[in-house]
Amino acid sequence: MAPSTERGPILIVDDEQAVRELLHEIFRSSGYCCWLAANGREALEIFEVEHPPLTVTDMKMPVMDGLEFIKHARALDRDAVVLVLTGVADVRTAVTSLTSGAFDFILKPVDPDHLLGAAERALERRRRLLDRRQQQAFLERRVAETVRELESTVRRLDDTYRTTLEALGSAIDTRDGGTQAHSRRVRGYSLTIARAHGVSEDRLRDLEHGVLLHDIGKIGIPDSILLKPGPLTASEWAIMRRHPEIGRQVIEKVPFLRGAVPIVYHHHERWDGTGYPLGLRGEAIPLGARIFSVADALDAMTFDRPYSRAIPLEDARSEIRRCAGSQFDPAVVDTFLGIPSSIFDAIRRGDSDGGVLEEIEGHDVTLAALSGR
Ligand SMILES: [Fe+2]
Repeated sequence: MAPSTERGPILIVDDEQAVRELLHEIFRSSGYCCWLAANGREALEIFEVEHPPLTVTDMKMPVMDGLEFIKHARALDRDAVVLVLTGVADVRTAVTSLTSGAFDFILKPVDPDHLLGAAERALERRRRLLDRRQQQAFLERRVAETVRELESTVRRLDDTYRTTLEALGSAIDTRDGGTQAHSRRVRGYSLTIARAHGVSEDRLRDLEHGVLLHDIGKIGIPDSILLKPGPLTASEWAIMRRHPEIGRQVIEKVPFLRGAVPIVYHHHERWDGTGYPLGLRGEAIPLGARIFSVADALDAMTFDRPYSRAIPLEDARSEIRRCAGSQFDPAVVDTFLGIPSSIFDAIRRGDSDGGVLEEIEGHDVTLAALSGR
């Protein structure tokens, strides 16, 4: 029968009924309620259900002795507090019980004051253990909350960076006579090719930044050249070809954009070494820039330009295949050709963003970016 809710409850375990009743009386007269068990097995059944804050147990008992009980009880409740009753002849066993997790031992015959004092100390220890456990759980919850808040802040910051870069990319496109959708499409193509080519996810962010900002150096090119409707003269070309270097100077000062520098600086290099600004050849050209070249060419060919009409996607793929080894990295072209056209078409139409970002803006503009500049 369950004891009433007084102090305790204390689980008393002893195979001698007289001892159980004596202990019960000592505790009851001090205001404790108690459970009584005649051996370790009975005690364990009560313990499993009630998790009493204190157990007082004999050592030598039939069915299950005190040591065995302590082992099982502490497996059920690592903060279980147990006092062991022992005769003078069994002090060695009692000491063993301490190493098994007992809090203290009480010599028989039991001195009531000694027993009650030990019980108070044991219960105090239990309270301290539980307090510490609660404190630890509280701290762990606070740490988890703080980590979540920090992650959320980093995500918001990341979104802010991204939104800012998208706005900047769109502004660059617009100034160049292009469209806001150009940089988003090229970003979608580039990320799609990069993933298929095995570029790791942690490097895609740099690629994305580089794609969005590839022409940022054009802010240093006079409008008279940048927006000139006809072909450029040789000296105008010389100025125009400075935009990768200007772009590099602009973004290399921004720590979180440093990974994008190779793409911004080398986006006009060609596989055969005839590009600019350095005329790098083959794999000396950073991979991100080689991927960008294919993506940018795809967009240039599949949208109307001032001097050329858009060609069908399949024709653009053939043209890119033809230029593998001269303008483009053959391995990147292989990867590109292995991707179904439908994926690029979805990005082109604005139905997909290459699996990375928000919805691509519509492509309702036929004014083209100036390819090759
Ligand atoms: Fe450019």
